Amino acid sequence: MELLLLLISLLCLVFTITILRFLLAPKPPAAAAKLPPGPTRLPIIGNIHNLGAKPHRSLADLAKKHGPLMSIKLGRITTIVASSPAVAREILQKHDKVLSHRHTVLAMEVLDLHKFAMPFLPPDSKWRNLRKVCNSYLFTPQKIDSYQELRREKVLELLEDVRRAASQRPGEAVDVRRAVFRATLNSLSSTILSLNLGDVERSQTAREFQEVVSGIMEEAGKPNLGDYFPVLARMDLQGIQRRMKGYLENALNLFQWVIDERMRKIKSDDLYVSPNDMLHTLLAIGDDDNREGAAAVDPLSIKHLLWDLFVAGTDTTSSSLEWAMAEFLRHPDKLAKAREELDEIIGKGNHLCESDISRLPYLQAIVKETLRLRPVAPLLVPRKASEDVEICGFLVPKGAQILINVWAINRDPVAWDDPDSFMPERFLDSKVDVRGKDFELLPFGGGRRVCPGMSLGLRVFHMMLGSLIHWFEWKLPNGIVPEKLDMEEQLGMALHKFKPLLAVPTPK
Ligand code: HEM
Repeated sequence: MELLLLLISLLCLVFTITILRFLLAPKPPAAAAKLPPGPTRLPIIGNIHNLGAKPHRSLADLAKKHGPLMSIKLGRITTIVASSPAVAREILQKHDKVLSHRHTVLAMEVLDLHKFAMPFLPPDSKWRNLRKVCNSYLFTPQKIDSYQELRREKVLELLEDVRRAASQRPGEAVDVRRAVFRATLNSLSSTILSLNLGDVERSQTAREFQEVVSGIMEEAGKPNLGDYFPVLARMDLQGIQRRMKGYLENALNLFQWVIDERMRKIKSDDLYVSPNDMLHTLLAIGDDDNREGAAAVDPLSIKHLLWDLFVAGTDTTSSSLEWAMAEFLRHPDKLAKAREELDEIIGKGNHLCESDISRLPYLQAIVKETLRLRPVAPLLVPRKASEDVEICGFLVPKGAQILINVWAINRDPVAWDDPDSFMPERFLDSKVDVRGKDFELLPFGGGRRVCPGMSLGLRVFHMMLGSLIHWFEWKLPNGIVPEKLDMEEQLGMALHKFKPLLAVPTPK
């Protein structure tokens, strides 16, 4: 409502500026006529009104009318939307190089974040070096294996939390979102920094960190007028950039403090043994100029990279987990089948290990089916064309924003039977995987920008989900029947379940 009023009151101002710009601007190139088709645009706002609160769904509906390669205008921003596996292949495979720049939003430009943050950097040498650091040091299978014990500990703590809640308040529901967010954050923060940043009850640092993170999530999820109308960018009419700056400063200061403490201990105490975490690996690379990617690992970049990994890794993994638990509660027959598999392969009373995952095809199918139906980044991270490109006979002009609607692609009726149904069985005899090579299933994106943390995210996802259902019976509270479970979505930084999932655990 507040946004609508602002929009209306600004229309006159923007209208005048736009008319002036139009009159003074050079004539548009003839090739503009070849933009992909799209819905009718309103003056000034273009198609902003078409987006609604769930842009992935609105754009999927529009694509049914205008086709899988569509163009819309969001204020001043020409935007190209891809909505089929074939068009995604053109973008992520054939034209990946030219189309892998990022379209940044103002909230990501405060403190020059877009010049340091891997998700927003252009694909230049700095970005390439950071990706090398990820691929060659932080996320190699051996490195991920080496943190296995840490992750196991965090799974045990999650089980203990749920067990305690179940014994203190038998028959009462637990907040599954809170439990899995805390566990995921602890799992990642111990892997990255050897800290438990999810333990808000025990640690002031954790409390401060979570306040900052929820503030950032809230601001980043709000539509910002300045993103649609660059003439308004500097005015920061909604105060989003100002608040974002405050949160980010706090977050980065906190990380700087952790890094300084670690370096101080290393320098001042010869007997100090630095813990085996990602910070340790990054400091070691930074000390050795000959290592691949070392150029990207100066102290400032380390701070930013650590922050990127947190932001990109926590909400995505925990939200996927919450969706999977919700799908289980909506489909008790699938839950029973997944449990049967665990009992048979792992055995009652035995803990699940990461090496077991490959022997659990039904659990893997559940994870894939959840990621297919509930991709946490339904439009991926917006890309930008660095040159004019022709796709399927249409022009994608230089500077255009590119949205890949993986929510629509993952439900493409040509690629998937009964695409809106939760049917993990579809993956049992299928080679289709989530890793970005199969263009009908892209929950981690694809091409050179594909998620670098996917192997780690997938391990945490399988381990926590498998353990939660192996050790507890779960049912919905207050007699809610599975078909009535509210599955409403909310799109912020990630695609969340709108209402947190509440469920009653009973130890098996
Ligand atoms: C289930 C868990 C996860 C999901 C579904 C997920 C999904 C994604 C998606 C869709 C993208 C955008 C890809 C594109 O634009 O084509 C992305 C990028 C990224 N992810 Fe993940 N992610 C997950 C876990 C993680 C984890 C655990 C980390 C690190 C600890 C991580 C780090 C990143 C980074 C740094 C990027 C930006 C890459 C770039 O722009 O070059 N993600 N992720």
